[in-house]
Amino acid sequence: MEIFRCNCDDLKEGLNFINDYVIWKDGEVMNVVNNVCKHKGGRFGKPKGKATDIEDVVTCSRHGWQLSMKECIYTNPKGNLRQERLRTRIENGVLIFYGKLSIIELSITYSMYSPPQQVRQPNGMLLLLTL
Ligand code: FES
Repeated sequence: MEIFRCNCDDLKEGLNFINDYVIWKDGEVMNVVNNVCKHKGGRFGKPKGKATDIEDVVTCSRHGWQLSMKECIYTNPKGNLRQERLRTRIENGVLIFYGKLSIIELSITYSMYSPPQQVRQPNGMLLLLTL
């Protein structure tokens, strides 16, 4: 599990894309999610054509799903599908949150005698696989 810290004053109002996270700042409210789409693991970005960062919607770069960072609910497709909010706390003006260890699907075939392999997860963590 990764512990992430950033100075609240360094975050702008609205959307912030930092490392593998999307942070929505609205005054004292901070919503943080992994920058991994629930559909098939794409990354979120700002919707095309939006002139301001105050909009709370991010769009997945792969198939266009849209997530409202204000509520952490997908707005496209509709259906109350939620993106998990990471647990956060603020101490002395520093936002602290815990990245999540995610389950990944491997499509790599190893022989019985393969040496340990390192696999980087979407959140940047390294897994050491030994078979
Ligand atoms: S992976 Fe995000 S919409 Fe498909």
